[in-house]
Amino acid sequence: MEKIKVNKDMCIGCGACTAICSDVFQFNDEGYAMVNNENCDFNALDDNTKNDVMDALEGCPVGAISKEEEN
Ligand code: F3S
Repeated sequence: MEKIKVNKDMCIGCGACTAICSDVFQFNDEGYAMVNNENCDFNALDDNTKNDVMDALEGCPVGAISKEEEN
């Protein structure tokens, strides 16, 4: 599976990802982004949501979002 991750040490809380794709990203109590469902498999998302995730990944100003292959 491919997991979507937010590096909390890098996130500056700009909110681009939560604005683009609130299905996948939300703010935590500290005002930084997190993935709603940490077990979410990118490959299982519908095409629209995949596009939104990629827009968020590419649009994050500090590159805090990544997609990583995991078994
Ligand atoms: Fe943080 Fe980047 Fe989202 S800075 S709030 S992970 S767009």
